[in-house]
Amino acid sequence: MFTHKSCKNIAKLIICCVMLITALYSKAQTPRLGKALGPAALSNFDLIAAPDGSGLPVGDGTASQGKLVYETQCQVCHGAGGEGNGSANRLVGGDMQSDDAPIRTVGSFWPHATTLFDYVRRAMPATAPKSLSNTEVYQVIAYVLHMNGLVGLNEVVDRRSLLQIKMPNREGFIDSSNIR
Ligand code: HEC
Repeated sequence: MFTHKSCKNIAKLIICCVMLITALYSKAQTPRLGKALGPAALSNFDLIAAPDGSGLPVGDGTASQGKLVYETQCQVCHGAGGEGNGSANRLVGGDMQSDDAPIRTVGSFWPHATTLFDYVRRAMPATAPKSLSNTEVYQVIAYVLHMNGLVGLNEVVDRRSLLQIKMPNREGFIDSSNIR
């Protein structure tokens, strides 16, 4: 005969078993989508360069160096002079004050030169994102900025100089971070 106390223990044991079986069963039911990312894979997603220049890596480049990168990696979609073949991929010129729909390009729309590095490093070339080295990105954005008349052909573009470039549309945005 079980004493009152051992009855309680058996009840506890049964509850434990039920919980364990439920846990194992629900684990087997998970969709098994992909696998956990390790630090190396995660660092690939962690490529943020902010408007204030934080996150920009060491390195530099000039437009004259970037011309070759542009011609081999970008021109096919963005045109020899950055004119693109539609509004989405036009990189040069444009006008935010036009009577018609504004033509947004790096030169006319982007408020910061720093984020140009970020965008190109992460998203371009559209068919092979993240395939360029940091140096190649510095070089090619120097060329894109040069095509927009914002840096000289042999001017060194690096973290420090990107922060100093005053983009034409710098004042064209309203900081809404304090508006509730
Ligand atoms: C296969 C075609 C293709 C290639 C190659 C390519 N791009 Fe693009 N790029 C695009 C498209 C399409 C967009 C528009 C994307 C969107 O609006 O979402 C774009 C957008 C951009 C923009 C943003 C333009 C803006 O004002 O919003 C920049 C900057 C840019 N590309 C730079 C580059 C550079 C630099 C290279 C070469 C390293 C490159 N792209 C190579 C297709 C391409």
